[in-house]
Amino acid sequence: MIKQHSIQQVKDAVRIEEVVGEFVNLKRKGPRYLGLCPFHNEKTPSFNVSPQLGIFKCFGCGEKGDAIGFLQKHEHLSYVESIRWLAKRYGIELEEEQQSPEEQLERSEREGLGVIQQWALDWSMDQLWNTEEGRRIGLAYFQERGFSEATIREFQLGYVPERGDAFAKAALAHGFTAELLEKAGWVKRRENGTPWDFFQGRVTFPIHGLSGQPIAFGARTLKSDKKLPKYFNSPESVLYVKSRSLYGIAQAKKAIVEQAVCLLVEGYTDVISLHQAGIRNVVASSGTSLTVDQVRLIKRYAPAVTILYDGDAAGIKASLRGIDLIIAEGLSVKVVAFPDGDDPDSFARKHSSSEIAAHLTGAAKDFLVFKADLLMSEAGQDPVRKAAAIHELVESIALVPDHVLRSLYIKQCAGMLEVAEQALVSELNKVLRRAYRKHLGGDAPVVEELLEPSIAPPPRPREEETGTVPQERDLLRLLITYGQERITVPMLLEDDSTVEEELTVAELVFLSLAKDQMEPEDPLCQAIYRDYRFAHNMGEAVTPERYINSEQEDWSRFVIDLLAERHVLSPNWEAMHKIYVSRESQQLRLAVQQALNILKERRVDRMLKQQQDRLKDLTDEAEIEQVLLTIRALQAAMKDLARVTGRVVVG
Ligand code: UTP
Ligand code: MN
Repeated sequence: MIKQHSIQQVKDAVRIEEVVGEFVNLKRKGPRYLGLCPFHNEKTPSFNVSPQLGIFKCFGCGEKGDAIGFLQKHEHLSYVESIRWLAKRYGIELEEEQQSPEEQLERSEREGLGVIQQWALDWSMDQLWNTEEGRRIGLAYFQERGFSEATIREFQLGYVPERGDAFAKAALAHGFTAELLEKAGWVKRRENGTPWDFFQGRVTFPIHGLSGQPIAFGARTLKSDKKLPKYFNSPESVLYVKSRSLYGIAQAKKAIVEQAVCLLVEGYTDVISLHQAGIRNVVASSGTSLTVDQVRLIKRYAPAVTILYDGDAAGIKASLRGIDLIIAEGLSVKVVAFPDGDDPDSFARKHSSSEIAAHLTGAAKDFLVFKADLLMSEAGQDPVRKAAAIHELVESIALVPDHVLRSLYIKQCAGMLEVAEQALVSELNKVLRRAYRKHLGGDAPVVEELLEPSIAPPPRPREEETGTVPQERDLLRLLITYGQERITVPMLLEDDSTVEEELTVAELVFLSLAKDQMEPEDPLCQAIYRDYRFAHNMGEAVTPERYINSEQEDWSRFVIDLLAERHVLSPNWEAMHKIYVSRESQQLRLAVQQALNILKERRVDRMLKQQQDRLKDLTDEAEIEQVLLTIRALQAAMKDLARVTGRVVVG
């Protein structure tokens, strides 16, 4: 049995549009995604995916469900198999339920802590609103800060009395153990064992989990004594893992999806003040620099992050490296600085909602441009420091996963830095090549490529003429026969120059198809392809015997047939075949690249036909325009492919 919290971890990591997007071509439409329904035959898209709700729904056939339901229906997996599929997809290690006493304990501890935090939340709110001391001290403080009653209630702010053990007494009387109360961070014990309230005389800011349950607290002192820490925070526990939570996410997630951007601030009060000013898509990383888990959490809701800084440049500089993390996850990043002396909280209190919104738009700078600015002003005219700055900048640009965007940044930064674009491009290529080698070296297998072969192939009815089965079989034959052979491939770089990389046939096939998010469609081809890729990613040198001797009879029969087949695919086939039988690396490479290109051409050709078909039924002008655009893009892709294929054949 998989542990409940692992299942929760998987559910928290899942982005439904990514999961569905593995099987259905989705287009973003405002806060939703739209595509052709995979569960019934249709020509105009009525298949909706809502990242916000985490569900899909087809308005044509009525199918609906969450990511797990989608995999169950589309891939015919069981519930548990779906969870495992998702765990692989998102690189999450599942913990299995072994009913060992410790594990049972941990689970009951998590549940116990959850109950305590909820009870403590209710208690602290009751103290704030319904006691004389709470209203006089706690509520008055919040109101002085400018928080409205509605805001105070929405963020479930509370108060703990000054009297040393009011909370401990009440909680113990309620039946909680002193030990668990200590783990929850609410109670400390003196040497003689008498309990006292850790948060005494403080106002409380509950930190919520994704579904709005309290998992920890921040507590601010109301005294101006500089010796006391301003904030106490709950310790980490099995319930509260700081690196995986974001303050305000429960209140903000809806707005983050709607605005398609997440604002990031430093602390509790920044989140609350902005929220009250009507800027609701905002969360805080609570002091520490952002973690990968937090970035992925944001990525579930929005493709972009805007970081709000208080004025001082030192603070901004310190966090530059952390921002690279966000870029590497494929999110676009902007930064907004605030005028000297102001943080988002104080700024929000001094200005109207529209002024704040105007500042957020007006002062937002693309992060990479911002970084270029900052580094350059620091380096001044010192050529050594300038070179170091350029290198640092290029390392960040290299992390941008989209190559079109990357080129744009290079252009823009070249202008700003007053260096030749070509210099940046070659610097970038150096960094990229290093990263690429590392990738091939297998230190960091790409998560997507680690998908285990799915248990059952997706049911995809296909018409003979549009299918690509012969091309898939051809490619698979090359993969199985020559997968481990090393070939030298010219790789295209940013500036259209090429560099020779040595890789195996299998690596070339996987890289090339993954680049266009393609796989064989024929169920058997696909299953074997995925199996090969999985074994390959696990470091196995796959040989044809793996399939010929497979216990799965249909696999072995299929592969034996395949290897024996002499199906003629193109006029060049016989020639090609003879050539690569000679196993000359160069010719083998040409054969593989041609097989890849022919398959891609056929797929593009089919998409073209589909779009042209669609055009016949359309009346809406905007839709027609959209389809025409798609057709033009496909035609361009087709031309490119033909050009490359042609060159390969001639070459
Ligand atoms: P501030 O020092 O501005 O806190 O820190 P504040 O409550 O807004 O205090 P004043 O009224 O301006 O003096 C900003 C954020 O940094 C975090 C909190 O989240 C706070 O909202 N912080 C600050 C801590 O976590 N611990 C601290 O000790 C201080
Ligand atoms: Mn402040």
